[in-house]
Amino acid sequence: MRRQMIAGNWKMNTNLESGKALAEGLAKHVSGKDLNADVLVCPPFPYLQAVKAAVGNSGISVGAQNCYFEEPGAFTGEVAVDMLLDIGCDWVILGHSERRHVLGETDEVINKKTKAALAKGLGVVLCVGELLEDREAGKTNAVLDEQMKGGLADVAAGDLSKIVIAYEPVWAIGTGKTATPEMADEAHAHIRGWLTSNYDQSAADAMRILYGGSVKPNNAAELLGQPNVDGALVGGASLTVDNFGPIIDAGLAQSGK
Ligand code: 13P
Repeated sequence: MRRQMIAGNWKMNTNLESGKALAEGLAKHVSGKDLNADVLVCPPFPYLQAVKAAVGNSGISVGAQNCYFEEPGAFTGEVAVDMLLDIGCDWVILGHSERRHVLGETDEVINKKTKAALAKGLGVVLCVGELLEDREAGKTNAVLDEQMKGGLADVAAGDLSKIVIAYEPVWAIGTGKTATPEMADEAHAHIRGWLTSNYDQSAADAMRILYGGSVKPNNAAELLGQPNVDGALVGGASLTVDNFGPIIDAGLAQSGK
């Protein structure tokens, strides 16, 4: 039985006022509910503290969308793991496809960031996913294997409990094209199989694997109901309470299924 996680990746969206209003609205949405799933919001760096204050003690966690792997020092423009912990972040998203394909991050860099976060106890949402051309060439599983191997290189089994994997097929991100529930479950099962082979069955059984890519209120329940889908990493639909609220509710309904 795995606890669902519903995570909102705000990407480079909102401003201070709208970000605070969204966080307050979400806190109100979950108020009085039995939060049997993890709810996470990941705003842009400049709004992390304000959003953290706005979610208050609602039970909603706050995470960053990136971090650097070095200790604080002369790294202009970067943000250290210590700084994220300092302001109350519980999680960091790493390896998002936009960072891989727009900002040029490699598995090696993602792995360094993953290890830096884990070493300090910051939770990692590690994103993997294939391009359309990979899928069409029948390379989906090979790409997932490569990204899992690269991202988790030298990560000890004991640290896996601080990691959540997010499967985000790149062709489904922001396109309105969702993987069918069966496609998502198949990819998740493959990732779980990788974890069994490279760690062990209990690590694989315990790992939460989120689906991301055009998750909306009208498809969330079916996706989250799949046996290997343990939550969602939501982009566009995480930007309003009207959309993210029902996705959170779908996660609460499926938690521990
Ligand atoms: P969309 O939900 O906008 O497709 O974005 C998915 C995503 O990239 C979440 O990290």
